[in-house]
Amino acid sequence: MVSPLLILYLILPVILLFFFQYRRTLKNKPFPPGPRGLPIIGNLHQLDNSNLYLQLYHLSQKYGSIFSIRLGLRSAIVVSSPKLAKELFKDHDLEVSDRPKLHGQQRLSYNGLEMIFSPYGEFWREIRKIFVVHLLSSRRVSRFYSIRVFEVKQMMKKLYGHASSSKVTNLNEMLWSLTTTIICRIVFGRSYEDEGTERSRFHGMFNECQAMWATFFVSDYIPFLGWVDKLTGLRARLEKNFKDLDMFYEEVIAERMDPNRKTQENEGIIDVLLQLKKQSSSSVELTKDHIKAMLLDMLVAATDTTAATTVWAMTALLHNPRVMKKVQEEIRTLGGKKEFLEEDDIEKFPYLKAVIKEVFRLYPPAPLLVARETNKACMIGSYEIPAKTIVFVNAWAIHRDPESWKDPEEFLPERFLDSTVDFHGHDFELIPFGAGRRICPGIPMAVASLNLILANILNSFDWELPEGVRKEDIDTEMLPGLAQHKKNPLYVLAKPRI
Ligand code: HEM
Repeated sequence: MVSPLLILYLILPVILLFFFQYRRTLKNKPFPPGPRGLPIIGNLHQLDNSNLYLQLYHLSQKYGSIFSIRLGLRSAIVVSSPKLAKELFKDHDLEVSDRPKLHGQQRLSYNGLEMIFSPYGEFWREIRKIFVVHLLSSRRVSRFYSIRVFEVKQMMKKLYGHASSSKVTNLNEMLWSLTTTIICRIVFGRSYEDEGTERSRFHGMFNECQAMWATFFVSDYIPFLGWVDKLTGLRARLEKNFKDLDMFYEEVIAERMDPNRKTQENEGIIDVLLQLKKQSSSSVELTKDHIKAMLLDMLVAATDTTAATTVWAMTALLHNPRVMKKVQEEIRTLGGKKEFLEEDDIEKFPYLKAVIKEVFRLYPPAPLLVARETNKACMIGSYEIPAKTIVFVNAWAIHRDPESWKDPEEFLPERFLDSTVDFHGHDFELIPFGAGRRICPGIPMAVASLNLILANILNSFDWELPEGVRKEDIDTEMLPGLAQHKKNPLYVLAKPRI
């Protein structure tokens, strides 16, 4: 019989060889520096999910424009400069086009049966094709123009009502309700914004879904401590939210498929999806779960981000009366004396477009974009990033990069007037919609709504702060979530233009 000692003696040189080679590899290809963490939990105890982008920005000042953090047992890197964002999205986009599989997001997306959270690959390509060709194409966006116009006019009626009784308007609420109505009518062919239990059920479910998307589950980062999520009740909360949403989709799908349904005139995206399912025209066999997951993508990705941007735009303008006056003058002069500005009119407003870009620069609604994950090892900067590393791109920091932006903290739309810099993913200093293969496919829909809403409320109303409130009192505190909302409501007085 061969002795174990002899075996050890024989294989020891091989083990030592591997060990020294591994050490040399590590030495040659270091991992980006970062704050020292604790065993097992890494840096989790130092990070606060409510303003992660800001904490990561401060860490980038100390550790550089690429640094690492440890989220439990998972490694993550954070990219914070336009130069590295360009390298990431141009040279390594293929390697960083995966998404980390996080518990809340996976459950609510029926395990990635949609676009935002599905891994990069053939399935994602097919689903993205469905979105781009059938749901978010320019033709489809134009088809829903009448919905946008109708709903903006409805909101303006409410504002006139408030003005006639000198009532203070809560703009967060007003603009959230408007964008939700527009998106719900586009997606479901109907709105859930009428007062009553249906409205509160709808809002409750979607707010909770936002929270679940952004919440840290211990099981995501320290799998063997996954039972903690059960103990804290997080799993049960997620399961309840999933069931509520699932029941809601079942109801809307049944409603749309009802053979006795009177009319096809309010066709929404849900009908397009159901038709695609029936035709089986895509190489993905669409099931009801795919449809439910895609509906959630449309709703959450579209409503929150667009609502947040309109509120930030008004916040920025009320903070900067000079810019407010200048943009209103442009709209009112070039728009003639029209009571309602149509899309073609808005094309003529270069300063308004510059204002919107500046809002996206200083107030990106998705400051950390949507997390990516490497699917194989790649060199970024002078570091080798292994496969399965989470990648955060800090747009908030990139949009303040002093090498790319003069006076980065100043709200100065003029900077865009003689510049070709845009947010379509080619200029890496301005990436509110991300870049590369996974860039937001909803840009045309988002821009169409933003332009119409802002042009019309700035054209028809002058905006004042309630008595006793100074512009310095308007805060820019944000709520946690994938999309950053203004935490405290923006109260204003709308005065109809004379
Ligand atoms: C102001 C409005 C919006 C902003 C700021 C925004 C921002 C973003 C960002 C940062 C990403 C991640 C991109 C990346 O990983 O590089 C994204 C992805 C996505 N957005 Fe938007 N978005 C907006 C509106 C919309 C709208 C109106 C829709 C329409 C349904 C939409 C649908 C999506 C989808 C489906 C994805 C996932 C793409 C993928 O993973 O392949 N978004 N968005």
